[in-house]
Amino acid sequence: MDRQKTDQQEMDQQETEQHQTFPPSPAFSRTAAVSSMEQAEKMYAAALKDPDAFWSQRAKALDWASPWTQVCDWSNPPFAKWFVGGKLNASFNCLDRHLASWRRNKAAILWEGENFEQRTLTYQALHARVCRFANSLKSLGLKPGDRSIIYMPMVPEAVVAMLACARLGVIHSVVFGGFSAESLKTRIQDLEACLVITADFGLRRGKAIALKENVDEALKECPTVTNVVVYQRHSGQSSVSAAMKAGRDHWWHDLTAAASAVCPAEPLDSEHPLYVLYTSGTTGKPKGVVHSTGGYLTQVLATMQWVFDLKEEDVYWCTADIGWVTGHSYVVYGPLAAGATVMMYEGAPDWPKPDRFWEIIEKHRVTIFYTSPTAIRSFVRQGEDWPNGRDLSSLRLLGSVGEPINPAAWMWYYKVIGKERCPIVDTWWQTETGGIMISPLPGATPAKPGSATRPLPGVVAEVLDDKGAPVKVGKGFLVLSRPWPAMLRTIYKDPERFKENYWTRYPGRYFTGDAATIDEDGYIWLLGRVDDVINVAGHRLSTMEVESSLVRHKSVAEAAVVGAPHELKGQAIHCFVTVKQGVKEDEALSSALRQWVTAEIGALARPEKIIFVAALPKTRSGKIMRRLLREIVTTQSVTGDTSTLEDYGVILKLSQQGKEEEEIMGERK
Ligand code: WT7
Repeated sequence: MDRQKTDQQEMDQQETEQHQTFPPSPAFSRTAAVSSMEQAEKMYAAALKDPDAFWSQRAKALDWASPWTQVCDWSNPPFAKWFVGGKLNASFNCLDRHLASWRRNKAAILWEGENFEQRTLTYQALHARVCRFANSLKSLGLKPGDRSIIYMPMVPEAVVAMLACARLGVIHSVVFGGFSAESLKTRIQDLEACLVITADFGLRRGKAIALKENVDEALKECPTVTNVVVYQRHSGQSSVSAAMKAGRDHWWHDLTAAASAVCPAEPLDSEHPLYVLYTSGTTGKPKGVVHSTGGYLTQVLATMQWVFDLKEEDVYWCTADIGWVTGHSYVVYGPLAAGATVMMYEGAPDWPKPDRFWEIIEKHRVTIFYTSPTAIRSFVRQGEDWPNGRDLSSLRLLGSVGEPINPAAWMWYYKVIGKERCPIVDTWWQTETGGIMISPLPGATPAKPGSATRPLPGVVAEVLDDKGAPVKVGKGFLVLSRPWPAMLRTIYKDPERFKENYWTRYPGRYFTGDAATIDEDGYIWLLGRVDDVINVAGHRLSTMEVESSLVRHKSVAEAAVVGAPHELKGQAIHCFVTVKQGVKEDEALSSALRQWVTAEIGALARPEKIIFVAALPKTRSGKIMRRLLREIVTTQSVTGDTSTLEDYGVILKLSQQGKEEEEIMGERK
């Protein structure tokens, strides 16, 4: 009966917390790399005054085979070059340079399988594995500039594969293991890869995911692939026998058995592409985001220190999968370039029990923990008893990434996980930015729950209004006004799309696709995407990708997909569908369509709701009015100017149907 009152109280509390600031604890600041706002302001000012000098100082933290002659070449925007003329190797910087000191015996990777298996690889051991695997790839004829696909579970060999490619100058593209054969195929084809590195299977919630089977399916239409390397994932329990195709497929263990552990790292041009990572854009076709070597490594290494305040003795855990950019920059390249001990976990956060993450923190004495708001919200739902049952006293810093974190989730993270001792870094960035762009400096910046705070030193971010004028205090669009070292260099094989996508809306500036408000302290509050990209559980999807999948189904005539607010996942996929003549709109079709999209794209794209409608709302020129649909799923009503609509009746019917659907869903609960 008091439910309403409780909600009101909760909202009041949230409101106050949102305006509260949380300065770092003196204990944390004392040892932090940036330990006061005074020191931070000096960094911001120095970076602003002379960006080249500032970034070149950071680049010197890497080992270069030969020096650069120019820091940033921006003479042909939007195509930037960083550390022009310099040569280096990413694998060398993540491994070899640590071997000269005692660090060679430091744990580089602490790995735990979902089935509780454990492995520890020191820098020396990781280096030897990478060299052997790189030599094996050489024996298959791989050379600098070739492209490879990595489609693997979260096992140390996935990191070995990435670093071995980097060692040879082979451009890798990691495809998340949760993607379907179809998604894998389109990426292999776009990349014209000659090699696929995979595993027989991966483990997820106790089930074996047959990765190699998906590869075989995808390769039916990928003539460029001549070699497949298959890592055998022993799980002790399940085993999936992979069919091996003679001449094309090689077991990892056979291939590396006799390989030498001596493999010099190839000195590569600073601008040599390190990897291509596909991400969803506003069309149905994923974009191949191209990252380079020197600038990318400079920024990911610098942010390890600024944002995570990494110390030699830290046990650092970023829970992202290597299939996403977070896994590239903050599981592999950033922490290893910094010589960190990286915790790596294979499976689901709630397997076999909801406290698996807390158990890992307790067991491995994790000190820095970096995860997504979606994960945090699901922990909130499971209750405090789970984390309270474990010793989390090793933690000293918490991070959040991928989507806006709501103040309530922030407060829970701060109190229940961090025990009000650990600063939280809410880090804003994108696949395209390569590294963190907006974040608190944990030993200096007072945090405000829900705000990513200020751009990092050397990053120029602005909130602009529709016409391109800076917003002093208020709402607008987030842009990046200067090139930054880890920025994407282009879209693979599509420089026009690169220009069109990011650089035309505000000429000369990079358009992020995010709306944001800026407050009187200059703090930035991210509000989410303003394009047809949606963010489901911190994973990016294109509404058009889902639409094209739906219309490929034989029963579907038209489809419009929008992101609807979702308590746990941030956003969920709602699909408005019209069916072909004679097709029955029933629950069976609805679940068949959900299954269809899941099979076509992957489990992360599973629609939450299918809403059958008689017609889709369209403008006179025939464009689907997604704004209206977004409004319907958000507010369940239609407001605003609909005068451009062909048929008002359609909308009314649609919104009415939306309401009914909600009611039905409500009843079912
Ligand atoms: C989009 C980029 C960055 C790695 C993971 C996602 C959203 C990201 C935050 C944050 C609010 C955030 C933005 C951005 N986003 N971090 N801290 N607060 N929103 O990478 O798949 O390229 O998605 O994620 O909307 O544009 P991505």
